Amino acid sequence: MATLTVHKFSKTKSGEIVRLFRFENGTVSVDVLNLGAAVAAVRTPDKSGKLADICLGYSDAAGYEKQDCYFGVVVGRYANRIRGGRFQLNGQVYQLDQNDHGNCLHSGAAGFDKRLWDWETEGDTLILRLESPNGEGGFPGDLRVEVRYRLTDENELIIDYRGVCDQDSILNLTNHSYFNLNGHGKGDILRHQLRINASRFTRVDAEAIPTGELPLVEGTPFDFREFHPVGERIGQEDADLQAVGGYDHNFALDGEGLREAACLKESYTGRKLTVYTDLPGIQVYAGNMLKGESGKSGARYGKRSGIALETQYFPDSPNRPEFPSCVKKAGEIYESRTVYRFDVET
Ligand code: BGC
Repeated sequence: MATLTVHKFSKTKSGEIVRLFRFENGTVSVDVLNLGAAVAAVRTPDKSGKLADICLGYSDAAGYEKQDCYFGVVVGRYANRIRGGRFQLNGQVYQLDQNDHGNCLHSGAAGFDKRLWDWETEGDTLILRLESPNGEGGFPGDLRVEVRYRLTDENELIIDYRGVCDQDSILNLTNHSYFNLNGHGKGDILRHQLRINASRFTRVDAEAIPTGELPLVEGTPFDFREFHPVGERIGQEDADLQAVGGYDHNFALDGEGLREAACLKESYTGRKLTVYTDLPGIQVYAGNMLKGESGKSGARYGKRSGIALETQYFPDSPNRPEFPSCVKKAGEIYESRTVYRFDVET
């Protein structure tokens, strides 16, 4: 069983203490913050046993409070984009923050990523909780959310999400960690090999909002059903890639229930990350917009220096009745699991 210890990280600008929770199982260690419920560090061995921190992040609370890259954080109430920041539910129109070309991205200014979550530990499990009042960010209903983190002896970081609202509402929670299997700040991820368990992806327009089409990946640069280097086709003259400047797309996962969504590996270090989820989609964002952010221990995160594998409901699903629904009835429990499994191949 992994140990879980509680430390002080730093203070927010309003003087509140941010806690750092460290999971250690003798092979892998993971740090989580109660600020943004962020995964702040993941140290894993390479094939010679050398440890590196493979997730992007900041050294202090100020970095997380200022950022717009969403390093490591839990995104809510609605991960990804909603067209016009607007949706209808039970005949009523709800207007959200329009923080991205008139659309709502990652819930805007009221997002959970900037909140200091309440915390509790229970054995090897960290429980983070928050409440979001009716109307916050434009969303309906008083919502209670809980995120549980646990590290197993099999090097799996298990993330369990739970939410319940007193009105019919929408919910779509994800973890927005960026990974670089060479170590954060160690170049780009273009030579990482990626496999995605998806036969289709959601086509998007130039604002990265789904058009409603779900093209087959076959014969396109989106076919990752077998491993391909991330950089192999990212620069191709492909309208879907060019629309958003590289991979920044939701893949419609094959199968149902908890299953493999994606697998990322890097042959020089032997590090491998496998992502499992019970959700219908995964946003693969190749860090196309990173511009040299100052990260942990003086690292600079340039373009494509990390890749985010965000398990989720499809973007803009509140406006797309044909997509799997993220609507929960009043009192209905939202429950979802995502697992990051860290391995090394020799
Ligand atoms: C989105 C990107 C966005 C990034 C940072 C990702 O989830 O897909 O388009 O640039 O988050 O906000």
